[in-house]
Amino acid sequence: EHSLAGRSLLSLQDLTKEEIHYVLDLAAGLKSQQQKGELIQPLNGKTLGMIFEKSSTRTRVSFETGIYQLGGMGLYLNANDLQLGRGEPVADTAKVLSGYLDVIMIRANSHKMVEELAAHASIPVINGLTDLFHPCQALADMQTILEYKETLEGVKLAYIGDANNVANSLMFAAAKTGMQIRIASPAGYQPLPEMVEKASAISDDPEFLLITESPEVACAGADVIYTDVWTSMGQEQETKARLAAFHGYQVNEALMDSAASDAIFLHCLPAHRGEEVTAAVIDGPQSAVFQEAENRLHVQKALMLAVMGK
Ligand code: CP
Ligand code: NVA
Repeated sequence: EHSLAGRSLLSLQDLTKEEIHYVLDLAAGLKSQQQKGELIQPLNGKTLGMIFEKSSTRTRVSFETGIYQLGGMGLYLNANDLQLGRGEPVADTAKVLSGYLDVIMIRANSHKMVEELAAHASIPVINGLTDLFHPCQALADMQTILEYKETLEGVKLAYIGDANNVANSLMFAAAKTGMQIRIASPAGYQPLPEMVEKASAISDDPEFLLITESPEVACAGADVIYTDVWTSMGQEQETKARLAAFHGYQVNEALMDSAASDAIFLHCLPAHRGEEVTAAVIDGPQSAVFQEAENRLHVQKALMLAVMGK
């Protein structure tokens, strides 16, 4: 057994560089096994509970098919249909579910709530997106970057847009693995000082992080250009203000042309063509977004095997 057995993944802060690479190596192995049609089912008889407070396509389907392919089963649990949605304490929910399930995945509004759930659960809890983090996404992103660039060390990643959950996880991914991240966001949408401090404390590269208001500065010479929606789930009432604030932050062909000639474009999806990215970029030759989305499956299978000690 290795060191990840029995542990939760709430943020990439929870993993060492070696543990991240362990999961990424395992994911690459699972992907090539699957492509060859070889099936391994070490999670026979295991159950994953998947609690969702928000919508999902990728997270839901990749976790459910992932556990099934490994021999186990996934239970989709809409938070509103659980007693949790009627006020049953998070701690009680954690203790009860720990008696039935082998692992929990949760997509929640509040990261604090997920921390509370994990604190009271006796089984691993995997964060499937909160207001603060999206670690499974960042793992799939790293797998995709590795497939194109063969290394993470020294890779220049430009993130353009709202510096919230996905950007935070990419910042920790960079700090842990030796990528250099440049984040371009308008004032008011830049990373929280607390996140910047924590990520900076992890990295020993003084150039690991650059925060700017200029997409041009962030993208110049970059190896990876990344963006996410301007209005995240739950922020719909801010849509108008956000459209105005992010004007000028669209990833378009001019921005792609300023990056390295072999740069790739990534987006966690879902995407809004004509807002944060043009159709020409996301549907163009440099886009790796569907490979990135597929890698959610492989990397989460690796993660489930790791936390279940297989
Ligand atoms: N990228 C991502 O997490 O997608 P879903 O919201 O569809 O799960
Ligand atoms: N930032 C987006 C990511 C969706 C996968 C959101 O929180 O809605």
